[in-house]
Amino acid sequence: MSDREEKPASMKLWGGRFASGPSEVFERFSGSLSFDRRLLEADVRGSMTYARELHRAGILSAEERDRLLAALEEIRREAAAPDYFDGADDEDIHTFVIRKIKEKAGEAAGKIHTGRSRNEQVSLDTRLWLRDEIDRGLELLVGLEEALLALARRHREAVIPGYTHLRRAQAVLWPHYLLAWFEIFLRDAERLRFARRQGNRLPLGSGALAGSAFPFDREAMARELGFEGITRNSMDVAGDRDFVLDYLFAAAMIMLHLSRLAEDWILYSSEEFGWLELGDEVTSGSSLMPQKKNPDALELIRGKAGRVWGSLSSLYVTVKGLPMTYNRDLQEDKVPLFEAADELNGSLEMMRVVVESADLREEVAARAVEESWVVATDLAEALARRGVPFHRAHQIVGRLVLESVRAGKKPKDWTPEALAAFAPEFTPEMADLLDPAAGMRTREVPGATGPRAVAAALEAAEERLREFKP
Ligand code: ARG
Repeated sequence: MSDREEKPASMKLWGGRFASGPSEVFERFSGSLSFDRRLLEADVRGSMTYARELHRAGILSAEERDRLLAALEEIRREAAAPDYFDGADDEDIHTFVIRKIKEKAGEAAGKIHTGRSRNEQVSLDTRLWLRDEIDRGLELLVGLEEALLALARRHREAVIPGYTHLRRAQAVLWPHYLLAWFEIFLRDAERLRFARRQGNRLPLGSGALAGSAFPFDREAMARELGFEGITRNSMDVAGDRDFVLDYLFAAAMIMLHLSRLAEDWILYSSEEFGWLELGDEVTSGSSLMPQKKNPDALELIRGKAGRVWGSLSSLYVTVKGLPMTYNRDLQEDKVPLFEAADELNGSLEMMRVVVESADLREEVAARAVEESWVVATDLAEALARRGVPFHRAHQIVGRLVLESVRAGKKPKDWTPEALAAFAPEFTPEMADLLDPAAGMRTREVPGATGPRAVAAALEAAEERLREFKP
């Protein structure tokens, strides 16, 4: 027995050519309303502009246009109800909205799709939806940057160990460390902006693939919908998801950075490092071990990074083998896009709250710096400034460290006399550099961790961030 339904195929936007309707299995398999319903607001917005344009082009009378606009406005209002989609079995959000218009505006509704294809419509809706989502992401990113700067200002002079290979390497100012993250996330803001620009062009007028046969003023529609301009080739539009991929790349990159920051702070707040404190409000306890204070928020951010990368690779693989122009495969763009946007914006917000909750334990960080030999490079460079060839200077200080490690001596245990006795190249003033803060003061080129360079960078950061505020 055939599983073709008796339902008339004319219920579809494309029913005429078919003698019978789609099988129940195919309908279930191909329907996208369960997820693309998130495009409703964008679909309504785009359809309103389209209705106005249909009137300007002489397809709709003023009265028909107004009836459609009123219907669309009503749909937008009703859609706020949580049960709005209950029982709907339309193929996708575009079909759903058209059915709703028909229910409200009757005959005139039959004209809304004149000269329009869902191929351009889905592109339009996705662009509108994504633009809002990017704006939200940018706002959250700016919020995170502000939290980082506030935390930097709270401990302007604090010193922490900077690591390479996860070994204490050189002393750096706490604000210098946070400004590194500031730079990273500012580049990410640029990436989001780039993705925004890529999608911010009006595709309407492209038709299914060959372009519209009606004399639409595309530039006027673009202006009305806040686009920077119009797309330039109708075939390109039908098969193009580059703007989504650009966004997903930006999202994956931001998640990569959030994940690395999360990893840093999971380590720094652990008992083994111990110089960063996470707020109670972003940590959780153990159901068994009463002493635990676990960095779950950060672990989840780190965990979600993988999913966002998955979204990028998912769509990349979906698109890579598609022949020009539209293919239904493209419908599979939405789930990864929605998921990535949700996880990205959720993680950005979470990270901001974590940063706001966090605090530096200055004394513990200072102890970690002083206990280690992070001043070794400062000493070697001081020797080099006095004319000792650097390789020789490196050798001398290396031996000093070896001797100290053997004798259990910290830098502070060395007196100027003992230092001079160790190697004649050492002058008494060089003993000042046994204090890590002194070594930091020698690093004042732009971009370095010297106090003046960092103060200037901090001030510049506030200014540079301003450009990204709405
Ligand atoms: N639901 C479809 C999508 O998301 C809309 C476009 C349908 N176009 C088509 N030729 N079947 O891609």
